[in-house]
Amino acid sequence: MNLLLKVWRQKNKDAAGALVDCPMADVSPDMSFLEMLDICNEQLHVKGEEPIAFDHDCREGICGMCSLVINGVPHGPDHGTTTCQLHMRRFKDGDVITIEPWRARAFPVIRDLVVDRSAFERIQRKGGFVSVGTGHAPDANAIPVPKREADLAMDAAQCIGCGACVAACKNGSAMLFVGAKVSQYAHLPQGQPERYRRVVAMIDQHDAEGFGACTNYQECEAVCPKEISVRVIAEMNRDYLRAVLVGSEV
Ligand code: SF4
Ligand code: FES
Repeated sequence: MNLLLKVWRQKNKDAAGALVDCPMADVSPDMSFLEMLDICNEQLHVKGEEPIAFDHDCREGICGMCSLVINGVPHGPDHGTTTCQLHMRRFKDGDVITIEPWRARAFPVIRDLVVDRSAFERIQRKGGFVSVGTGHAPDANAIPVPKREADLAMDAAQCIGCGACVAACKNGSAMLFVGAKVSQYAHLPQGQPERYRRVVAMIDQHDAEGFGACTNYQECEAVCPKEISVRVIAEMNRDYLRAVLVGSEV
C-alpha cells in the first residue's frame, strides 16, 4: 500500500506544532501501526531528518504507553484496541492517515506525538493503592470475595492508564480513569478501610491537575481499549457524595 501520513511534529511543549506530510510506499498490511512508524523513522533517519517521537513499550496492549490519535480517534478505528494492536490491514491503498498526540490541557506535548501523562501518576499516588501492614502476608484465598464483586473489581482493574479517555472527552476529563482506579478497590474487602479517603483525595488531585468535569458524553467508554464502562464513574460519584456528606472516614 502507498499511504500519506500527516504527522503532528512539535519540537517541544512551547514550540508551535504542525501536521507534516510523510509519504510511505510499500506498506505491508501485516505490519502493526507502530512497525509502520518504525519504518517511517528509518526512512527519515536515512534522509538525515529527525525521527518522529512517539510513546510505546509492551506493544501488546498491556502497558498503556502507546497514545496516538489516528484520523481523529484515540487509538484509531478498531474498538477495544490499543494503537500497538492496530494493523495496517485496517487501511487501504491511497489512504491519508492523520496522526496526532493526545490533546488535553493536563497532557502537555513533550515532543511530536509524546505527551506528559505524569498527572495520572500523581492521581494514583493520592490513593490508588491499599495500605498493607507489615508481617506475614495473608493467604490470598483467606478473604472470601463474592464472584460478582470480584468480576466487577477485575473489570475496573483492566485500565492500563493510557489516557485515551481524556483525549476523547471534549471536557478533557479523566473521570473514567479515576473511576476505574477507585472502583477496582471499592469492590474488594481490602479496599474498604481507605475507600472514602481514597475517592476524595483522587478526585481532588484530578481537579488540581486541570482535567475537566464529566458531563456524560461517554466518548471515554467508546474509545477505551479495555472497554471500561462508565458505570465506574457512577460508582465513584456515589462514593464521593457519601464521603463529602458523611465524612471521608465513614
Ligand atoms: S479508562 Fe480506558 S481509556 Fe482511560 S486510561 Fe484506563 S484504559 Fe485508558
Ligand atoms: S505499547 Fe503497551 S499498550 Fe501499546
